[in-house]
Amino acid sequence: MNILLTGAAGFIGFHATQALLAAGHAVTGLDEINDYYDPALKRARLAALEGRNGYRFVKCDIADAASVASATAGEHYDVILHLAAQAGVRYGLVDPAAYTRSNLVGHQVMLEFARHHQPAMPHLVYASSSSVYGNDTVPPFREDARCDRPVSYYGATKRSGEMLSHSYASLFGLQQTGLRFFTVYGPWGRPDMAYWLFTDKILKGEALPVFGGGKLRRDFTYVDDIVAALVRIVETPFTADEGQAPSRIYNLGNHHPEDVHALIKAIEKATGKTARIENREGPPGDVNETYADITRAARDFGFAPRLSLEDGIARFVTWYRAHFKV
Ligand SMILES: NC(=O)c1ccc[n+]([C@@H]2O[C@H](COP(=O)([O-])OP(=O)(O)OC[C@H]3O[C@@H](n4cnc5c(N)ncnc54)[C@H](O)[C@@H]3O)[C@@H](O)[C@H]2O)c1
Repeated sequence: MNILLTGAAGFIGFHATQALLAAGHAVTGLDEINDYYDPALKRARLAALEGRNGYRFVKCDIADAASVASATAGEHYDVILHLAAQAGVRYGLVDPAAYTRSNLVGHQVMLEFARHHQPAMPHLVYASSSSVYGNDTVPPFREDARCDRPVSYYGATKRSGEMLSHSYASLFGLQQTGLRFFTVYGPWGRPDMAYWLFTDKILKGEALPVFGGGKLRRDFTYVDDIVAALVRIVETPFTADEGQAPSRIYNLGNHHPEDVHALIKAIEKATGKTARIENREGPPGDVNETYADITRAARDFGFAPRLSLEDGIARFVTWYRAHFKV
């Protein structure tokens, strides 16, 4: 298959590109390489993929339709894996416009690109988030739970993306699969996320700022489990329920939430160091718990996450120490 992958310099995009190439697909990667976190990490991911058979990368802002058109001229894609986004809940308090540009305008540009793609519309697989669920969702979160009261601007833009997608499925028959990822972590991960920040501080002997008394619970999901599902979803012909718009949503989570103390314990074990904790008042926008019901993805794609938090964190810490030589 020929695949267009947005957010290719990002954490999940990097792993997805590797897995898709290994499965024999061709990948065109797009990314604007913005500086939300250190672009050196994004460049290092791209460098690790350089020269791979069937791969090419184009620096491109997906919120700019003309740039997307010129980056993809002359190609026909079977699937678009749209992962580019302004990620992270907390940065929404600082720069909401970044979310509007990448997650709303960018999403709409990709929808329009897919709709007019010749000779046939591709299957558009896009990243959504567990953040579409609010604090009042009953765990485990089911895809059909009410999702119109997000507590973060990020969650609001991700839910809006799902709705924009549904309208294109309805209006133009554009086949789409939205994936609600739950706290994805692993090697080559994201420096803005707690597992990375905590590892960094524990290795430096600095205190960890812990919000909510450490009681926040997250359905931590190892990146290889997510990527195995992505490859299966990309390769499986699209099916929609009879008489419905071709628009589906799946949770991809671990179905095993753990609190911040469990995360810290796993990092302590992997680093061999003891954490110093500083309890702090957290910023608004974080939900108390995320917990995925994965019945739907298990039924349709055999989704069965394998890695425990302890084993996944051990792999992350091994990578982190080797990458930063610490
Ligand atoms: N990692 C997680 O835990 C998690 C959880 C839920 C949802 N998601 C979603 O999964 C997707 C991938 O997340 P990630 O963790 O790899 O994040 P990431 O920040 O590492 O990757 C996103 C990439 O998109 C790029 N990007 C942003 N705006 C762009 C634009 N306008 N044009 C081109 N490129 C642009 C960034 O430069 C970045 O490299 C995102 O859509 C994110 O919202 C991630």
